[in-house]
Amino acid sequence: MEPIKICDNVFWVGAVDYDIRDFHGYLTPKGSTYNAYLVVDEKITLIDTVRHGFEDELLSRISKIVDPAKVDQVISNHAEMDHSGSLPGIMRAIGASKPVYASAMGVKNLHGQFHGESLNLLDVAKEHPASGKFSFKFLDTKMIHWPDSMFTFMPEPGVLFSQDGFGLHFASTERFDDQVPWDLLRGLAVNYFANILTPYTVQIGKILETVKETGILQATRIVCPDHGIVWRKDPAKIVELYAHLVSRKPARKAVVAFDTMWHSTEYMARELTDALGTRDIDVKYLSLKHSHRSEVAAEALEAAAVLIGTPTINNQMFPSLADLLCYLKSLKVKDKIGASFGSHGWSGEGAKLVQAELAGMGWKLPSPEVRVQWVPKEADLQPLKDMAKAVADEIDKI
Ligand code: FEO
Repeated sequence: MEPIKICDNVFWVGAVDYDIRDFHGYLTPKGSTYNAYLVVDEKITLIDTVRHGFEDELLSRISKIVDPAKVDQVISNHAEMDHSGSLPGIMRAIGASKPVYASAMGVKNLHGQFHGESLNLLDVAKEHPASGKFSFKFLDTKMIHWPDSMFTFMPEPGVLFSQDGFGLHFASTERFDDQVPWDLLRGLAVNYFANILTPYTVQIGKILETVKETGILQATRIVCPDHGIVWRKDPAKIVELYAHLVSRKPARKAVVAFDTMWHSTEYMARELTDALGTRDIDVKYLSLKHSHRSEVAAEALEAAAVLIGTPTINNQMFPSLADLLCYLKSLKVKDKIGASFGSHGWSGEGAKLVQAELAGMGWKLPSPEVRVQWVPKEADLQPLKDMAKAVADEIDKI
């Protein structure tokens, strides 16, 4: 395995996970990478490590540059296991007593994860690592997206190591933004933001302000995240995308997400999709039979409206809808125009329960839920058209 040169003295030495599809409940159809970087200066510094199981790949790439035992120190920007899981194994290879620098919370979290290991964990606020001709500056990025998260900036070459920030899940042989079309990268970055970072939108907005005010952004030539592509050609592009996403400015777009038992709720979803489409709204029709919850979250991120359809089963909403709502709530998806609908055979609680959940999430609900008993007939379609009109009228006001 070969390292990739990022710029003079800085190398990518991470791992490519072509096979991962389930990233703690988030679908990653294109796999992912666990990016780690080696800074070769008077001291040799490894910035972040890789998921457990990928130690050999990381050590193989380092060994093409230097004997791993010559690495002097490690900086851990983020303690989640996809970046820290290999830390004990890596430290055994480079020297167990060598320092591992992290934020105060990072030190605590790494202790918590590897309490059986004698890691030499140091808080960067108390013990500042030296490099040589380069220097390290640390930026507290708490809750982007863990309490331990921090950025490391090297002003001399203008390299920002941004851990999960500005990342995306994409396993490929390409390492740089100038090797992959922007449209593909934008979609992957939006998907990543929607499923990882949405709950921390406010904190991300503040970090964007901080990096501007401190001059870090203006001095950054290359952004090196812990997943996916290194932004070397035009790092401003991903920063601008983040600024757009934290603004929560909705697109003229609606998501119709539903599940169905005997195709009746599906029929209702198709009617709604058709009616919204006639109002020049970009509509994403997502059956949960074929679409993962994380795809719905990704499509919902920039959508003005999300309409949710469920059959009723044993007096409840369909389990896949309960799963979706739990996921959207955990991501703190808000500021949406919402609506609920569904077919039922007997009592028909499903759509009512969804409506109550959407109200609890603070969504604007311009229409009562639409429920149809058994198979929809022509006369049942008018309430759906009315619902589509109410949602579209609300979108028009934005
Ligand atoms: Fe890529 Fe929060 O770990």
